Amino acid sequence: MGHVALRTPDLAGTAEHAIQTLGLHETLGDAGARFLSSNAKHHELELLAGEEAGVDHVGFELETADDLAEIRERVAAAGVEVVEPEHQVAAEGTFRFVVPGGIAFELYGGMEREPLTIDRVAPRFARRLGHVTMASADAPATVAFLRDVLGFRLSDHVPGLSWWLRCDEDHHAIAIMPGGTTRLHHYAFELDSFATMGKYADHVASTGQHFIWGPGRHGPGFNLFTYLFDPNGVVVETYADMLKVIDDAAYEMVDWAQHPRAANLWDHGRVPDGWLELGVPSLLATHAAR
Ligand SMILES: [Fe+2]
Repeated sequence: MGHVALRTPDLAGTAEHAIQTLGLHETLGDAGARFLSSNAKHHELELLAGEEAGVDHVGFELETADDLAEIRERVAAAGVEVVEPEHQVAAEGTFRFVVPGGIAFELYGGMEREPLTIDRVAPRFARRLGHVTMASADAPATVAFLRDVLGFRLSDHVPGLSWWLRCDEDHHAIAIMPGGTTRLHHYAFELDSFATMGKYADHVASTGQHFIWGPGRHGPGFNLFTYLFDPNGVVVETYADMLKVIDDAAYEMVDWAQHPRAANLWDHGRVPDGWLELGVPSLLATHAAR
């Protein structure tokens, strides 16, 4: 997982919220864009000024230049147009494309990293961006492209609810929900433990905010979770203790549809009213502009 880029009509307020709530720090900023990170990476959250709140693109980092070149060829061979953004910020070989369903992806290699310090090794709350959950107007096509072209592996699927896909040991780096308009449902930063989640919850309460769901534990991914809104109505998750898939060959999916408590193992599987309809739109008109 690399970064998520959001458009917002309240750039200053959104950046301040992420810094104060999650504990992110800013690495670069001007009147049009703010770049934030929770660790040594140059950015994990890219905030862009815009007329309306929405997701501009999602970014994934490739480990080697060869991987990047191979994926670029595969995307082009699939008949998908590849474009290069006007500005490459702190990464190499950046290119963008729109996957079926209408989600703009940005792939790159070699993102700049700050040398590690005690603050970066042991941040107060968020320690890395871990996943995004998107809804897609054509979810089966989106999932097929992620698997067959980009090489994501399917970790779990609950029909009508979500597909969860991984690109490394973490159970999911992206989840795709079916139905409705294509949008970002939430993005998620990892906390190191449930103890830190407790401190985070106290901190959230002290700032006058409240969770819209959680703390709880999901079935798919087995992770602990909390969710709250940012100033744009974007859902921000923190999670901890996610399942690691160490051995792809030995991994077997759970048939979560048979488990009525799957959505929240701690609370009868209850889901907040309107949960599946949340999210901010995918803004395809803007993703190539910067
Ligand atoms: Fe970006």
